[in-house]
Amino acid sequence: MAESVDTSHWTHRLFVERLDLFLPFLEKAEDRAEAEIAVLARLLGELGLPSGGRILGTACGIGRHALPLARRGYRVTGFDIDPLYVEQARDRAAVQSGYAEVFVGDVREVGSHLAGRGPFYAIANMFMSIDYYGRASDLALFQGLGSIVYNNWEFYEGSGTDLCLRLKLDLDHTVYSVDDLRGMVEEAGWEFVEGLGSQREDDLRLAGLTPDMMDMWVVVRWPHTT
Ligand SMILES: C[S@@+](CC[C@H](N)C(=O)[O-])C[C@H]1O[C@@H](n2cnc3c(N)ncnc32)[C@H](O)[C@@H]1O
Repeated sequence: MAESVDTSHWTHRLFVERLDLFLPFLEKAEDRAEAEIAVLARLLGELGLPSGGRILGTACGIGRHALPLARRGYRVTGFDIDPLYVEQARDRAAVQSGYAEVFVGDVREVGSHLAGRGPFYAIANMFMSIDYYGRASDLALFQGLGSIVYNNWEFYEGSGTDLCLRLKLDLDHTVYSVDDLRGMVEEAGWEFVEGLGSQREDDLRLAGLTPDMMDMWVVVRWPHTT
């Protein structure tokens, strides 16, 4: 547990002192787990996650998602602050197929818990398991997770048994949102004109940016030109 943990915080009282009270709600939520897993698996497939790829479940509870993902062939690591939930998840993992490692851990210490365990291809945080400790804590969580997510590119040539790794890179490459980019160009003295996205059909068309678009086009103007 983090040294600075406030033992009067509601999460401590509910998940550490009264381990069992919320358990029936998680068990009840098993009813909808299969549908959620189907969506997760589809998303992971669309994102190109390799079969057998490593997935992290933060605040994984009794493993509602971690365990079915392990059964589907992913290598899953999960952690939760509640030792009873972790015990249940481990017991269930022991009698099913697939690889699932579950341990007691605190999202506020994600860096130290996960040192040496990653990298992970994907991280799943399900069922309102965030925003318990305020924005600064969530920011620290996302920063900590950023350092353990898989960020390598591998270039292969050949096929089958002749497949040969030509280059492996540890990427350090930020994908900016339009707001990040706008903030940066404005700080640098540019004037932001508009952010557009491309719709690819037969030809390339630009339209108002929406989150599902593959490309972002940002138009800026240098304000001091004559
Ligand atoms: C609403 S439950 C969701 C559990 C699981 N993600 C699911 O969908 O079944 C919230 C979970 O957050 C866990 N939790 C609360 N504070 C935590 C912390 N500081 N670190 C890790 N887990 C925490 C609780 O023990 C609980 O399992």
